[in-house]
Amino acid sequence: MSSSEDQINQRVPQHVAIIMDGNGRWAKAQGLSRLEGHKQGAKRLRDVIRWARDAGVKQVSLYAFSTENWKRPKMEIAGLMTLMATMLPLEIPKMIEEDARLLVLGDITKLPWLARQALKKAVNATKDNTSVDVILCLNYGGQQEIVEAVKRFCASFQTEDEKNKALAELTPEVLQTYLGREDILPVDLLIRTGGEKRISNFHLWDAAYAELYFTDTNWPAYSEEDLKAALADYASRERRFGKTSEQVQGISHE
Ligand code: FPP
Repeated sequence: MSSSEDQINQRVPQHVAIIMDGNGRWAKAQGLSRLEGHKQGAKRLRDVIRWARDAGVKQVSLYAFSTENWKRPKMEIAGLMTLMATMLPLEIPKMIEEDARLLVLGDITKLPWLARQALKKAVNATKDNTSVDVILCLNYGGQQEIVEAVKRFCASFQTEDEKNKALAELTPEVLQTYLGREDILPVDLLIRTGGEKRISNFHLWDAAYAELYFTDTNWPAYSEEDLKAALADYASRERRFGKTSEQVQGISHE
């Protein structure tokens, strides 16, 4: 995994994370059901992944279902799970054609069997693809995964003394090894559609230095122009990672 600092001055974000918001409002405006909004949102995914890959993006993370989304009406949850179970198998040939690898973040053990099976199959069928990674975040919560990493870290010691010593010396780099981040790059650009300006528990760890981009466009209506605007905005930003502007520009070597 390349470090965030290696990416200073790199103009194309390697990892773009997307909060696909606004499916419900889009559907309402069209006189359609919320589920139809999610369906159109899922279809939009295909295009966005292709546009991102063609622009040179290496990883696209998609917030498809958060740990908090279980609070939604049961019908909507069931609809989203069924959508996943039915759409994913149909996407596999396209993902192979586009050389896209599917990765999953989140606790999918809580998902219905059919959705889990569809995910496993798609992950397995695409595991050797290398052009772009599609990271589906399902039953995903940024706080929860940090808590799970801490639990794994604490459980990895034989004695209290060993654990206390390691805890006293714990660094972000060490904790990251318990997060299961071997294949995940730091998030460079985090896009949220649908007009809200929140991170909503998405990629809390990986987005530590992400550039944030908010757009009013609802997810089902997200266009190539919208993505281009986000990428252009990203390219115009100076990423400093805690340094000064002069240091980043090489004017000061202190
Ligand atoms: C937020 O819009 C969207 C979601 C909670 C779900 C996103 C899921 C998809 C796009 C489908 C994923 C499908 C597959 C096959 C991976 P919202 O419902 O909160 O919209 P609103 O704020 O307008 O109500």
